[in-house]
Amino acid sequence: MKPAFNTPSWVLAALDERRRQDLMRHTVTLDSPQIPHTQINGRPYTAFCSNDYLGLANHPLLIRAMQQSAEEYGVGGGASHLVAGHLAPHQRLEEALADWLGYERVLLFSTGYMANLGVISALANTQRPVIQDKLNHASLIDGAQLAQAPLRRYLHADPLSAKKLMAKSEQSGLLVTDGVFSMDGDIAPLSELSTLASLHDWTFMVDDAHGLGCLGKEGRGSLALSDLGMTQVPLLMGTFGKAFGTSGAFVATTQDFADYLTQFARPYVYTTSMSPAMAGASMAALQLICSQEGEDRRAKLTGHIDYFRQRMKDLPVELMASETAIQPVVIGDSSAALAVSEQLKALGVWCTAIRPPTVPNGKARLRITLSAGHSTQDLVLLCDALEQVLTAK
Ligand SMILES: Cc1ncc(COP(=O)(O)O)c(C=O)c1O
Repeated sequence: MKPAFNTPSWVLAALDERRRQDLMRHTVTLDSPQIPHTQINGRPYTAFCSNDYLGLANHPLLIRAMQQSAEEYGVGGGASHLVAGHLAPHQRLEEALADWLGYERVLLFSTGYMANLGVISALANTQRPVIQDKLNHASLIDGAQLAQAPLRRYLHADPLSAKKLMAKSEQSGLLVTDGVFSMDGDIAPLSELSTLASLHDWTFMVDDAHGLGCLGKEGRGSLALSDLGMTQVPLLMGTFGKAFGTSGAFVATTQDFADYLTQFARPYVYTTSMSPAMAGASMAALQLICSQEGEDRRAKLTGHIDYFRQRMKDLPVELMASETAIQPVVIGDSSAALAVSEQLKALGVWCTAIRPPTVPNGKARLRITLSAGHSTQDLVLLCDALEQVLTAK
């Protein structure tokens, strides 16, 4: 008889603890494409928690581009970029992104998480520290940990606090911030941080996962709002899984950093390239983002954000200082956030509660995200439902 496997007691204890604190996470299965009007567990909902900010994830042009790219170049990358996995759609996408953003080079990565791990672990080490915003994305923090670099975190969006940490550091290293903060939706003080970095000879990196496509001229993101480019921000990370509506990521950088990352960024070197079909779809997304349709979608999104914030003014909610598609409603307690999310579901609105450790303790929230894929009626549904739930005694 084969010996039975017993789950280690520490695994069970960790799960029990999560359950006890109302922090257990689960997947939910959508029986529809990624669109606001979705089907979950056989029921229709209007969803307000996707990162598909421009409503491109199910766009016919992207679907067609993916099909065409798959027909011409196949489905699998087949190897890493450096062996035999760098196909024409990858090259075209890298060049188009570099052109769009005004950078010398772009390198594709399979996910944003891997891009951040790759860049930071290649450029930081025990001697080269990393200074980051307290609310930076987990992948940026993990990159510094992988590098075994001294990691210091400054007060959220506070250049003075970053400056103090720089002054304390014996060596210069990497200064890293999200462009748009993923859980709060506010925009980092990029001009001040880039000035600090250049004055103190630190390398400035921005993760603009939530800004690219949505903000600035032709959707060039948070940097465009402050008229910054490669000179001030030599490392710019962007993802395709949000406004682009596809998946994967890229780093826009200088020729020298690109050459360096090609040698030393392990999550770039030791992994299969993204599907060439996905690269083809991301190229179509980029073209759309730069077109009049992209402008129209951004304008529609701005209209939704204005409407939402106007309606929330009269409600007992703590809105964040966000002008972006991320409009969190902070509830506080995890159980209360779960309860509000359930009450919204009963009204046909799907918005998953975000709880610690993704957000700080006591700051559980509905991370409401708006999309150009929503209609005006969807926004009315959301605001009416929130009004009903948040003002109920
Ligand atoms: C700010 C930020 N950076 C990086 C990532 C990771 O990107 P990806 O989903 O492509 O791994 C995310 C979220 O997914 C994010 O919100």
